[in-house]
Parts: sequence; C-alpha cells; structure tokens
Amino acid sequence: MIPDSFIQELKASCDIEDVVSAYVKLTRKGKNLVGLCPFHSEKTGSFFVYPQTQSFYCFGCGAGGDTITFLRRIENLEYVEAVKLLAQKAGIPVPEDSMDNSGARLKARTLEINRETARFYHQCLISEPGKDAYRYLIERGRTPKIIRRFGLGYAPDDWNSLVDHLKGKGFREEEMVASGICARSKNGGLYDRFRGRVIFPIIDLRGNVVAFGGRAMGDRGPKYLNSSDTPVFKKSKNLFALNFAKASKAPNLILAEGYMDVIAIHQAGFDNAVATLGTSLTEEQARIIAQYTDTIIIAYDSDNAGQAATKRAINIFSEVGVKVNVLTIPDAKDPDEYLKKFGPERFQLLLEGCTNALEFEITKLRKKYDTETADGKVGFLKDFARLMADIRNPLEREVYLTRTAEELGVSPAAITAQITSIQQGRKRVQAKKEKNDTSIYIGDIAAGRKDLDRRRNLKYAVAEERIIEILIKNPDYVPYFLQNMKPEDFVTEINREIAVLLCERIQTHRSVEPMALSGELSGEAMDRLSAILASETIQRAERSQLDEYMAILKEHNNAKSEQDIAKMDPDEFKHYVDSLTAKKK
Ligand code: GTP
Ligand code: MN
Repeated sequence: MIPDSFIQELKASCDIEDVVSAYVKLTRKGKNLVGLCPFHSEKTGSFFVYPQTQSFYCFGCGAGGDTITFLRRIENLEYVEAVKLLAQKAGIPVPEDSMDNSGARLKARTLEINRETARFYHQCLISEPGKDAYRYLIERGRTPKIIRRFGLGYAPDDWNSLVDHLKGKGFREEEMVASGICARSKNGGLYDRFRGRVIFPIIDLRGNVVAFGGRAMGDRGPKYLNSSDTPVFKKSKNLFALNFAKASKAPNLILAEGYMDVIAIHQAGFDNAVATLGTSLTEEQARIIAQYTDTIIIAYDSDNAGQAATKRAINIFSEVGVKVNVLTIPDAKDPDEYLKKFGPERFQLLLEGCTNALEFEITKLRKKYDTETADGKVGFLKDFARLMADIRNPLEREVYLTRTAEELGVSPAAITAQITSIQQGRKRVQAKKEKNDTSIYIGDIAAGRKDLDRRRNLKYAVAEERIIEILIKNPDYVPYFLQNMKPEDFVTEINREIAVLLCERIQTHRSVEPMALSGELSGEAMDRLSAILASETIQRAERSQLDEYMAILKEHNNAKSEQDIAKMDPDEFKHYVDSLTAKKK
C-alpha cells in the first residue's frame, strides 16, 4: 500500500492540467479544459479536464479518472508504476518499501529477461553459432554497424540454449514463461520458442526490450515468428524502430511493412522509418504515430497485398487525422529491394515525389475500370464522385474534378451533380443517426454504455449515482445516509463499489478526492466516478433530495420480482410475506 499522506503530497505538487497537456492539446473552456480524446478516435473534442476536482472525463468513450488513472492508461502502467512516474515528474522521492506490487515486479523481471535474451542472441550472432546467420545478413546487404545498432541476434537451432542461459543467470521458470520467450512442453520442461532464426529485438520508447521478431533462415516453419503479448508488450500498441524514429529530425514518419525494410531504410540514412509487428496497422498504432507527425509516408510492398494494406491504412489514418502520402515503389517489391537496386539518392527522389492518398486512390480507380468503354466510364465516375464527396476543401475538390473531367471528356457539372447527391444522402443518414442518438434513455453516460448491469437497472443506477454525487459534495450527510441505508445495498455493482469505499473513507476522515481513490477503485469504477463528477449539478444538495433517491433504492430492495417469488421454497416464501407485513406496520 502507498500511504495516503504520500498521495496527498503528490497531489499537491502535480496539476492534472500539466500532466495531461504533455499528451493532449488542451484549450480552455470556462473553468475546464477540452481536447481530442487520446483514448478513442474523434475529430471534435469531448475529452474534458476538470482542474477543480483534478479529474478528467471523456463524454465520447467514457474514460475517466484522476492524474494517476490518466498516466496508467496512456502509458500502459500498473498503479504503482504510474505513481512512481508522477512522483518522478514532480521531483518527489518515493517511499520505496511501500512499493510492494507483484504486477510491477513481474514486469520488471520480464524486462530483465528480455534484455538478457537480446544480449545472448546478439552474442550468438557475432560468434561461432551465428556464423551462417551473420553471413546471411551481410549477403542481404546489412552492415556490421546497422546490425549492432538494431541489436540483431541469432537464436541457435536447438531447444534450450536460451533456457539454460537464463537459468544460469538466476531467472525462475515462471518468469521465463511469462516473458513469452520460452514455453512449457507437455512433459513440463521448458524450451526455447525461437530456434534457428535471425532475431529482431523490439524496443519501446523508454529503451526497454519488450519483444522479439524472428525470421526463419530456411523453409522450416513460418517465415516470421513474433512474441505474443506479455505483461510488458502489446503487439497492437507498439511499432518497430519507433525508439529511433521518434528522435529523427525528419518532418514525418515512414511506415514500412517489414522489419527488413525498416532496417534497410535506416541504413540508407532515413532514420524516420517504422513498421507494425507482423500484423496490419491498428488504430492504436495510428494514434501513436499521430503523436509524432501529422503526415505519414506509407511505403508498403508493391504487390497486391501491400496495396490492399495501404488502402486499409489510409482509412485508419484518416480516422485519427493524420495526412497520408503513398510511396509507389517502381521496379522493386519493397523498399529493401529498391534501395539495394537503386540506392538512397533515388529513394530520396521517391520520397519527394510521393503521391498523396487521394492520387493513390484515383490511380487505383483508373486501373479498376476500363474508361474507354461507356460502362467503365460510368462505374469509374460513380466511385470517383464518392471519393470526391469525402473531400472537405472545395478548392482541392475542384482541382481533381476538373482534371478528371477533362481526362475522361465529360462535363464537370455532371460529376458535381453526382457529388451533391451523395453528400445529401449522407446528411440524411447522419441526421437520422443523430435523432436516434438523442432518443437514448435519459441517464445515458458513456462510462456506463457497456455495463449491462447498469442498463438493466437504470432507474436505480441513476439514483445511486446522484447519491454518490451528493455524498461527495456533502460529506456531512454520510452519517444520515448510513442510518438509513447500507452502501452494500446498492443495486448495481460498480456504484456499490464506489459507495462502499466512499462511506468507509468519509467515516474515517480520509480524503475522497479522485486522486485518493484511484489506487483502490477498479478501472470501471474510476470511469464511472469521473462521469458522475463531470455531470454539472448542484454543489449543495438538500437533504430531501437524498431522501428521494434513497426511497427509490429502498423500493428496489423491498420488491422481489415475480420470478424470484416463484422460485422460493415455502419457508422462504413465508419469511418474505412476514417481512412485507412487518414493513407495513
Ligand atoms: P524479408 O522476406 O526477410 O525481406 O522480410 P520482409 O520484412 O520484407 O517480410 P515480408 O514483406 O514477407 O513481410 C512483412 C512483415 O510481415 C514481416 O516483417 C513480418 O512482420 C510479417 N510477416 C511476414 N511473414 C510472416 C509470418 O509468417 N508470420 C507472421 N506472424 N508475420 C509475418
Ligand atoms: Mn522483404
């Protein structure tokens, strides 16, 4: 447990506004601040920071909490790690002995194992066991310098060289398994997951080795093997080489498909290349990229799969507001091969001339249809109009429209009419959607949308939330509340969790500010609490309001559903009837 006093001290020296604005661009709105939510994709800000309560809440996705919750989410940290990071930001020493946390300890051990593993594999590569692998890399054009810089390695082709090495270093078997680098066989022994492969260590932004990719040297097994998710690694949230690229002076990032491409691009002097890790681009990765650049250059393979992936990536980037340029690679299958054939200068020229996302789409459409025929022309123009309807800037639209009309020999007015009709159709759909949205039951909060328990018991949940709000703002009502109700009687689980903790803390005169609670509440409860605090209502509530909400809850506790009654055995039933008549008196 971290002592309350320490959290209080931390709270006094950290302002949520400062912490959040390191990650999110905030603008002032009255006494609060608003920005684009870093936890979901949006184009208009619904992410609010409340300096008064030192909390945040997103009306779009329902994420909420205090400074610590924010750091946990955005940096993917355990509670104790987030406290440490915050203390570090504030320059306050952390009481070490109170930091007993097994989750954080396992993470730390996993990172140690990964570092040791990377060292071991690299050592293997540059010595006798890795002779062939080293030659392979050199033959593929890699230099000793780049091999060192990326810490490439070789996993020997047997079942337990790594296991033995790590055991020798004093790591325990469970720790090795948790790190994902070893696995347990049917007979209970451990074996190495990577065997006979060239190893690419994956390093996070803080310089930790978090995972590995391994390329087969021959035809045995899959070409690439990647670490599965571990306590310190989520495939969907990491990018290969971002640790280097984030420090690049280049104005944008290059996104390639494979490890080898990225390394080749770096070797050619472009230190701004990254890649996803054996999966297609995720929204989370796109959002990470958005933190470093407003324009991404996609340099995927030139084959069909690469082009399809480009298209998908363009959509994802447009969701998060990153502009896309597409690099078309002529006469080579990927950047690695292009660089080998034509060299860095030509690659630089490609970069300078890379087409933007729109041109890429138009070119693809032109290839899809035979515009020499009437049918082809109609099909093309339909798709083209749809593409144009997405463009917000009328000038930009004009440029493409006039050019295409000319090329196809049709009147621009005909295309414009198409575009207008598509836009109107979309507006209708949008209006209908908004109408449906506003007709959602009263009491809808983003933080409760996924909570079935809350939706089923909405009336009670809302009453509970108002009670929580009243108690936080008027702690002097707590004794009165406790005379009449137990927080354990709250109907919905998450509200119950909040209420129980709240009453307990108020009774023992401890703080109930969000920051004091985030160590003890679950993530869902923290979201909910922030939603409650974010709802603008009364500061000082009348006690009659509290009575009103308590009455609603009592009604629930007394009522049994018909189903419940039907299931009762005779004894229970008698007891139930007795309890009702007792209440009447
Ligand atoms: P080389 O063939 O060595 O040039 O590698 P490459 O990086 O160019 O690979 P390729 O274009 O075939 O694949 C691109 C990326 O997709 C790789 O870097 C891997 O991350 C991933 N990938 C390729 N093959 C596999 C596979 O068999 N399994 C998994 N999980 N990922 C793969
Ligand atoms: Mn390749």
